[in-house]
Amino acid sequence: SDKFTTQAFIDAKKNNRKITMLTAYDYSMAQILDESGIDAILVGDSLAMPIQGKDSTLEVTLDEMLYHCRCVARGVKNAMLVGDMPFLTYHINPDEAVRNAGRFIQEGKANAVKLEGGTSMAAMVKAIVRAQIPVMGHIGLTPQSVNIFGGFKVQGKEESAAKALVEDALALEDAGAFAVVLEAVPEMLAKLISEKIGIPTIGIGAGKYCDGQILVVHDMLGLYSDFTPKFVKQYANLRGKMAEAVSTYVSEVRSQQFPEKQHSFTISDDVLEKLY
Ligand code: KIV
Ligand code: NA
Repeated sequence: SDKFTTQAFIDAKKNNRKITMLTAYDYSMAQILDESGIDAILVGDSLAMPIQGKDSTLEVTLDEMLYHCRCVARGVKNAMLVGDMPFLTYHINPDEAVRNAGRFIQEGKANAVKLEGGTSMAAMVKAIVRAQIPVMGHIGLTPQSVNIFGGFKVQGKEESAAKALVEDALALEDAGAFAVVLEAVPEMLAKLISEKIGIPTIGIGAGKYCDGQILVVHDMLGLYSDFTPKFVKQYANLRGKMAEAVSTYVSEVRSQQFPEKQHSFTISDDVLEKLY
């Protein structure tokens, strides 16, 4: 089959073939991504912003994530499906982490989970992998740490912070993670990390030397405009296209240009006559 697997992640890095990822939160979007040849889809807790209208990911619940995961799963044929573990579902202890990761597989129909943190989360990663659930790490700007970071800013610019990120990446590889997301870290630090570890790095705001790239789909399609990070490239302005379509609809309904005959159903004159 053409299903993208954890082995395909490792092979891609070996063969210098860049890995492509995007987020999706619903069935139709998942279908579009899958049919366009994306390697893997993340049901990210970033849905807090474009889907839920919140300003951080911290309130997203496991049940909300599982609901979106199931919706996305129905639209996916070939891409690997990764479920993003929300805040506090993997921090307490390895047992809870395994049970909650398991729900992504059993109820969310995901193929793997992602969680934020490096060295500090290695025990959780190890426990989840021991339960035969593939884990993707995520270090650098980890949005669930916003209250510790004091905002969304680039990570690893100072020597000690950069050293800690290298340690985090090595700890994730050692714990059995199959890939690691690097978010908002300097390009040359991401290059160094990508060279130091055997598992692929998936960059977002981490430059061109990562083994793959991921973006939030609502950002790259121009569907969400409350906040656009520096690292986003907008490949389309669907918000503009959609607004145009909606205002055309509004004016056509008001001017009675819509609906037309072809959008309407008929009834025989015989039946109609009897009603008058
Ligand atoms: O939630 C998310 O979409 C993410 C990616 C941006 C890596 O964690
Ligand atoms: Na996330």
